[in-house]
Amino acid sequence: MIKLSAKNPVRSAGDMLVYFLAETGKKSVPCTEPLVRKAIKKAWKADDFSGKAGQSYWFYPTSSQKNFSATRVLVVGLGTLKDDQDDCREQLRLAAGTAVAAANRLKVKTLMAVLPAKTVVSAAVVAESITEGFLLTDYSFDKYKTKNDKENGAKRAGDLQFILHDGGLHHNQVRQGMNRGRRAALAACAARDMANEPGNVWTPARFVRFARELARKNELSCRIFDKPALKKLRMGGILAVNQGSAVPPKLVVLEYQGSKKWPTLMLVGKGLTFDSGGISLKPAAGMEDMKYDMCGGAAVICAMQVIARERPKGLNVVALVPATENLSGASAIKPGDIITHYGGTTSEVINTDAEGRLILADALAYGIATYKPDAVVDLATLTGAVIVGLGHHRTGLLSTDDSLSEKILAAGDMAGEPLWRLPLGTEYSKQIESEVADIRNIGGKGGGTITAACYLQEFVGNTPWAHLDIAGTAWNFTKKSYIPKGPSGIAVRTLVNLVRNWKTE
Ligand code: BES
Ligand code: MN
Ligand code: ZN
Repeated sequence: MIKLSAKNPVRSAGDMLVYFLAETGKKSVPCTEPLVRKAIKKAWKADDFSGKAGQSYWFYPTSSQKNFSATRVLVVGLGTLKDDQDDCREQLRLAAGTAVAAANRLKVKTLMAVLPAKTVVSAAVVAESITEGFLLTDYSFDKYKTKNDKENGAKRAGDLQFILHDGGLHHNQVRQGMNRGRRAALAACAARDMANEPGNVWTPARFVRFARELARKNELSCRIFDKPALKKLRMGGILAVNQGSAVPPKLVVLEYQGSKKWPTLMLVGKGLTFDSGGISLKPAAGMEDMKYDMCGGAAVICAMQVIARERPKGLNVVALVPATENLSGASAIKPGDIITHYGGTTSEVINTDAEGRLILADALAYGIATYKPDAVVDLATLTGAVIVGLGHHRTGLLSTDDSLSEKILAAGDMAGEPLWRLPLGTEYSKQIESEVADIRNIGGKGGGTITAACYLQEFVGNTPWAHLDIAGTAWNFTKKSYIPKGPSGIAVRTLVNLVRNWKTE
């Protein structure tokens, strides 16, 4: 948990008191607290601690420093202060992550932190970024560990007590920023939890349970389409992918409607709770990671958690998550099968492992027909090809709309979740032409991320649309202090930023 304190930090008792210091290259220690300046003077002079990013250094107040009430004082390097606002946010999140790493090594339970005052961002943004860094780093998933890991002792991540001190920044702005940061970070951690759950636990029904709870607690409307309802609506893509599984599919719809007069943003997330490839079976090595194939759905639902709590003015948001497994049971779809999507488009399934596009197509077509949104964003762990192209450092962005793209790129930069735009075009769309049906579900050699997006494009009509391929970033995302191994919670905070910053011209 995290809270704000108005007490004098020096006089506050706790396990650890943290100060963030910039790298200045100057002789004087850049800290407003004279006690800290004095205490680390020697380390600073010796260049052992110089405020570099990633550096941390702690000391135990001696009798001459008895004014400190904390057990330890930690100084964390920020690096040279960035003059770009987004860079500064990232710098603060990273330093907060470094502080938590030190705290965890020392099995600290309460961490007090003095916010750095001299940055280019507002008081609220300092608090927001530090809060995000703290809560995103203090994450672990150990609910299935029944034996106490002796090396880690009793200390488990996720239970640190954080106390912020405003450091002279406007107290109420700090409070607001802290609350924003907390809502976003906890939502990203919730998305990580969903992804960490194995495929036998996080089933389509669990998406349903989570969405219903969220709707009930926050006055969203929630509609669930079960298998009979999907049949009635002729959602041939979701049903086809589900054929080989004994676990029933679901389509989850969550709606935040502020006013009928406002524009509507539609979010769609791939909720593939396990992807074996189906009859076009994946290789065994690494197949366990395919429990993460629901990260698009998790991002969308968890972003809705923040939207539900913040109830933004000027924008309605509707979220759809088509959810199923992709297995190879006796009734599974076969290469060559032809399916009919919601709305009537037919598709020749050449490779049953290209299943994400099949379930997204129904959700996109149905959502657009039903909600007539002003913009659509879908998120999916859609192609291995995006990892070939962009590695694990950027999400692939494909869009028919420049202004929507700009908004998403900006939201991602602000979140420390960068994206890179790839092209669309008729020359790529040609690759998914079929001899026997309207389209086929793979595009042949080359441009796999683009041809996958072209498939989705067939179902969005003229609605401004963007597709985020998060296959490279949903897990094994760029190594940084506040990103754990495993699922990253990618795109939750990007979507939250997108909604918070939405302005209609
Ligand atoms: N879920 C996978 C994509 C994926 C692969 C995500 C690796 C993360 C890591 C998707 O359903 C898939 O299997 N895509 C195929 C498409 C191909 C058959 C055209 C792929 O990328 O290999
Ligand atoms: Mn697949
Ligand atoms: Zn998949």
